[in-house]
Amino acid sequence: MISAEIVRLGTADIPEIHGIEKQCFTCPWSVRSLEASITLPVSYWFGARIGGRLAGFVGSFSAAGEAEILDVAVDPACRRQGIGRLLMTSALASLRDSGAETVFLDVRRSNDPAVSLYRSLGFEVFAVRSMYYSDPPEDAYGMRLIFNNNTDSE
Ligand SMILES: CC(C)(COP(=O)(O)OP(=O)(O)OC[C@H]1O[C@@H](n2cnc3c(N)ncnc32)[C@H](O)[C@@H]1OP(=O)(O)O)[C@@H](O)C(=O)NCCC(=O)NCCS
Repeated sequence: MISAEIVRLGTADIPEIHGIEKQCFTCPWSVRSLEASITLPVSYWFGARIGGRLAGFVGSFSAAGEAEILDVAVDPACRRQGIGRLLMTSALASLRDSGAETVFLDVRRSNDPAVSLYRSLGFEVFAVRSMYYSDPPEDAYGMRLIFNNNTDSE
């Protein structure tokens, strides 16, 4: 596993987040959407920095006992080195500390790397959302992690 520093992200980090977004997604978050989310008091955005450079990030929020993973991505040049897992475990620990009992996320059905990562952390598919995504059109898996029923993420 590569050595990465996990840091809380703020508005100053948005240009780097947006740079990774554009490399990873056909419909990346806009700078405006990133600003709106990152500045919410209920938001938790973390980054993995290697030698000061942003290698990946995860965005989430937590409110009233429920949390959601909004966005997670690792720079294509930095994948398969444990960074995605490190980001997710850091986010899940913070969401749990915030009082969340359940964490939700949506993922493209064909996204094997992400689905595999989420399953390994204890997430289960609880819904299939027909044609949820565009560009290209595709179903989503709605996935859910219930902290109290899952010792792996404690
Ligand atoms: C999903 C993603 C964040 C994983 O990041 P990563 O740093 O490469 O992941 P890690 O090295 O921490 O691997 C963690 C686990 O993810 C899964 N995984 C990662 N890449 C995989 C691949 N190419 N094929 C299958 N499983 C994979 C494995 O379960 C892996 O565990 P293992 O190493 O014990 O086999 C990364 O592939 C990515 O940024 N994808 C594009 C953006 C995206 O799809 N985000 C999710 C949106 S819902």
